[in-house]
Amino acid sequence: MRTHYCAQVNETNIGEEVTVAGWVSSRRDHGGLIFIDLRDKDEVVQLVCDPADNAEAHKLAEEVRDQFVLIATGKVRARGEGLENPKLKTGKIEIVVDKLVIENRSKPMPFDLGDNKVNEEIRLKHRYLELRTQKSYDIFKLRSKATIAARNALDELGFLEVETPIITKSTPEGARDYLVPSRVHHGEFYALPQSPQLFKQLLMVGGFDRYFQIAKCFRDEDLRADRQPEFTQIDVEMSFCDQEDVIRIAEKLLHDVFTACGFDIPATFKRMPHSEAMEKYGSDKPDMRYDLAMVDVIDIFERCDNEIFSTIAKSPKKNRIKALRVPKGDEIFSKRQMKGFEDYVRKFGAQGLGYFQMKEDGLKGPLAKFFSEEDLQAIVERCEVEVGDAVFFGAGEKKLVWDYMGRFRIFLAETMEIIPKDRFEFLWVVDFPMFEVEDGQVKALHHPFTQPKSLDYEDIEEIESIAYDIVLNGTELGGGSIRIHKEDVQSEIFKLLGIGEEEAQDKFGFLLDALKYGAPPHGGFAIGLDRLIMLMTGASSIRDVIAFPKTQKAQCLLTQAPSEVDPEQLKELHLRVRQQPAT
Ligand code: AMO
Repeated sequence: MRTHYCAQVNETNIGEEVTVAGWVSSRRDHGGLIFIDLRDKDEVVQLVCDPADNAEAHKLAEEVRDQFVLIATGKVRARGEGLENPKLKTGKIEIVVDKLVIENRSKPMPFDLGDNKVNEEIRLKHRYLELRTQKSYDIFKLRSKATIAARNALDELGFLEVETPIITKSTPEGARDYLVPSRVHHGEFYALPQSPQLFKQLLMVGGFDRYFQIAKCFRDEDLRADRQPEFTQIDVEMSFCDQEDVIRIAEKLLHDVFTACGFDIPATFKRMPHSEAMEKYGSDKPDMRYDLAMVDVIDIFERCDNEIFSTIAKSPKKNRIKALRVPKGDEIFSKRQMKGFEDYVRKFGAQGLGYFQMKEDGLKGPLAKFFSEEDLQAIVERCEVEVGDAVFFGAGEKKLVWDYMGRFRIFLAETMEIIPKDRFEFLWVVDFPMFEVEDGQVKALHHPFTQPKSLDYEDIEEIESIAYDIVLNGTELGGGSIRIHKEDVQSEIFKLLGIGEEEAQDKFGFLLDALKYGAPPHGGFAIGLDRLIMLMTGASSIRDVIAFPKTQKAQCLLTQAPSEVDPEQLKELHLRVRQQPAT
């Protein structure tokens, strides 16, 4: 229908007749002349309807409103002196319309397209209208580029793209499953995969050696700005490899993807053991764009005269006392802000937030009196404190202190606006613990198929695994591990997780069986594609980079899913919906 996309029309076409097609982004009637900005997928061109040139086209143009669909034919001419628009590729020309077709009309827009402040509910209900904006198009153009670059990179590295089932058996990744009832098998259910984890391992047993998939995953979990119930992974697995091999593949993949998308990133990324990340940053995904690292001061606090702190300090295995030095903090924070910081950490279980101020004559503050001069000096040296700085500290059970001090670090960086927005800081967090114990229950930190470094242990939480996460600017971008490829080790891990033999057979019998038939050593990783695009585009929500996303309550406002179904359908599936209990 068109001879040119809008972006293709420029000064070289002056004098030529062209046909363009698209949506009206604005229309201005200048008493006689009507100007229309016509937009297609990625550019705007100006149409001019002059009654002196073509009365019929001008008459039609009077009817035109925003977002009408037009096909316009006319001659390209240079814009008048001073009327050029340097923001547009087409800014030097306009099309004098000779023939205008109103291909379709549009109701007035339910919201101002491109205005991010508009209530998200309205935007998601009419998501196709939001997609019509330049901003959305640019995001999905980049997403497409990144996906194709990932495919090409992995293809070149000899990885085979294989699709794994969507209606299948549950694969645990720590969330709830979405279940699909079976019509044929009364009372039985499929689960949507939380990831292709077990199938990709079986492909290794199948001898494929190198697999990848741009895989849809489904997790029924609490949603946040970087989580969706349905999301996409670049999922990779390889055989006869160690951690070093996998890391090299992941770095090459990310490097190719970022390069294809026009970003310059290093060929290899820094690494940090999990324990160091927790001790210094209170997080397994520290943002390395700024410092604000925590320093251990428990030994110094043990000697202080404050009983609360000295008691906490007596159990250095269980507890932590961490100091966080903020350069110039004493100068920049008001008393009210300091109080606000304490309120902030209390929300995450802190009893309080102590602080010192570094004055010309040494460390001062409400708690300074509990310390000897030498110990105050020891804090100054350990934390490298300078005049004008503030030093905050948190004390208590180690996981609690890591958590609230880690959050406080981020909160401080945001308050102080010290986070550079135009940088990518990658980090490998390695040597994850194999297990964590929560309320007496042993859980796998990654997943139960991860290779432990050893199974000799005193404290189960001290077992390390060959698992690694890729962190980008404080977001977990991806993760992976070397897998267990021996049946006896896998059975042992299930046992440690409290999964009985019968349950293990029932849930993972197929895996345990496969491991008995010559499973090769293997490992891999998965990168969250949506998160990757979110970070590349600087989008504030993962929803912006998914064409048809769900809300924080896992609803699709466009199609109104989830929704009730026909009673007949339920009957066929042998299901009955119970009355919602009264609340
Ligand atoms: P994991 O569970 O760490 O590992 O997931 C890998 C990456 O997928 C992304 N991701 C999500 N993105 C959006 N919404 C979600 N709800 C969501 N959950 C996860 C993250 C995350 O880093 N099978 C393993 C990988 C492996 O061991 O090879 C797995 O799925 O970016």
